[in-house]
Amino acid sequence: MIGTGYVGLVSGACFSDFGHDVICVDKDAEKIAALERGVMPIYEPGLDRLVASNVRGGRLSFTTDTATAVAGADAVFIAVGTPSRRGDGHADLSYVFAAAEEIAASLTGSTVVVTKSTVPVGTGDEVERIIRETSPDAEAWVVSNPEFLREGAAIEDFKRPDRIVIGADDERGRAIMREVYRPLYLNKAPLLFTSRRSAELIKYAANAFLATKITFINEMADLCEKVGGDVQDVAQGIGLDNRIGGKFLHAGPGYGGSCFPKDTLALLKTAEDYESPLRIVEAVASVNDQRKRAMGRRVIQALGGDARGKTVALLGLTFKPNTDDMRDAPSIAIVQALEDAGAVVRAFDPEGVEQAKPLMKSVTFCATPYDAANGADAAVLVTEWDVLRALDLRRLAAKMAQPILVDLRNVYSPQDAAAAGFQYSGIGRA
Ligand code: UDX
Repeated sequence: MIGTGYVGLVSGACFSDFGHDVICVDKDAEKIAALERGVMPIYEPGLDRLVASNVRGGRLSFTTDTATAVAGADAVFIAVGTPSRRGDGHADLSYVFAAAEEIAASLTGSTVVVTKSTVPVGTGDEVERIIRETSPDAEAWVVSNPEFLREGAAIEDFKRPDRIVIGADDERGRAIMREVYRPLYLNKAPLLFTSRRSAELIKYAANAFLATKITFINEMADLCEKVGGDVQDVAQGIGLDNRIGGKFLHAGPGYGGSCFPKDTLALLKTAEDYESPLRIVEAVASVNDQRKRAMGRRVIQALGGDARGKTVALLGLTFKPNTDDMRDAPSIAIVQALEDAGAVVRAFDPEGVEQAKPLMKSVTFCATPYDAANGADAAVLVTEWDVLRALDLRRLAAKMAQPILVDLRNVYSPQDAAAAGFQYSGIGRA
C-alpha cells in the first residue's frame, strides 16, 4: 500500500485484518515511526485497535522503503493524495505518477498495480505508460479500484461496502483483484467489473451525484423557510420513494470535507477538457460555496443584523462528526463572516481543535460546549457530534448573555429549544 494517508492506512489495515500480508509505505519517516509505535496520523474510530491487532498478528507492517515492499507483492495499491492543483482546480497527479515510477523500478514477478487514489479518467493509461517505459520487461497490469469510504465510518464502509468497483481491461488483472477481495465478496459484497475508464468515472460520478442530492435538499430548505414548510418532512416524503432514497437528504450548512468539494471541481475540469459540460455539477459547486458563506449571514441575522462587539459560540467545527478533518468545513466560512462583521468567536470541538487552530487564529477554543457558550450572544450548532446532540439546553441558555441558538443541523426541536428559553432557528423549518 503506497501512501499511509486516510485511504491507504484504512485499506491496508482492513486488508490485513482479512488475512492478507500488507506492507504500508510512506515517504514520511516520522509518520512511519509513529505508526510503528501505534500512533495514528488521523482520528478514525477503531483504526488504532485494528492496526495494533494486525501488527501483533504479523500481517501488517510499515516502511519507508518502496522497493522492498513492492518486490514481493502480488498487488501494489497507489493510495497517495490527489489534491486540487493550485490555480486551476485540476487534480494534482504528481504524487500518483511519482509513485508509479518508483513502483515500476522495483517490480519483480507478476504484479497488479492498482490506483485507489481518486484520479481523473485516463490516469490509468498514463500509469501504465510510465510502468512500460520505466520497466519494459515487467509483467504488470494496471487496474482502477476507487474507494467509497466515509471518514468516521471508514472501517465499516470498507468491510461492508455497497459495492466494490474494479476497472480492469484484461483478465489477469481481474483474477488477482478477485483474490484480493475474496473475503469481502464471500460476505456478498457485489463486485462490479468495468473498464478502467468507467471505474475512474464512477468515483467522480458518485461523489458529484451525492453532492447534488445534498445541494438539492439545501435549496429546498431555503424554500421551506420562505413558504412555511418543514424540510425534514419534505426529505422524508420524497426519500420514501425508492427511486429517490432517504439518504443524503439532510439539509445543513453545505457539504465540506476532502472529497466532495475537490472531486466536483476536478470532474468539472475533465468536462471542460473534453468539451462536455456538466451544468448541474457546475451549479452544485457554486450553490454550495455560496451557502457556506450565507450561513455566517444567517447568524448575524439571528443577532438582529449587527454582530459588532457580539460574542458567538460555535459548537462543532469539523466538516462532519467523528473526524478531525477541517478541510473545506463550513465552520471556516462562518468564522470568517462573523469576524468580518466584528464578532468575537469562541468554539468547541471534540477532535478538530488542532486542525482548526491554524485556520481560525483569533478564535478562543474551549474545553466544553458550556464553556464556549459562556457569555455568548448566540450559539451556533455547526457539526452534529454525539456530545452535542443531548446538551442541557437550560444550562446552555443560562450561561449565555443572550439565549439565541442557530441550529444548522436541525438537532433540536424548536419546541424544546423554546421551552429552554432559546430564540431558536434551524434549517428549512419556518
Ligand atoms: C464522501 C463520500 O460519502 C465517500 O463515499 C467518498 O469516498 C468520500 O467522500 P466524506 O467526505 O467522508 O465521504 O463524508 P460524507 O459523510 O459523505 O459527508 C460529506 C459532507 O456532506 C459533510 O460535510 C456532511 O455534513 C454533508 N452532508 C452529508 C450533508 O450536509 N447532508 C447529508 O445528508 C449528508
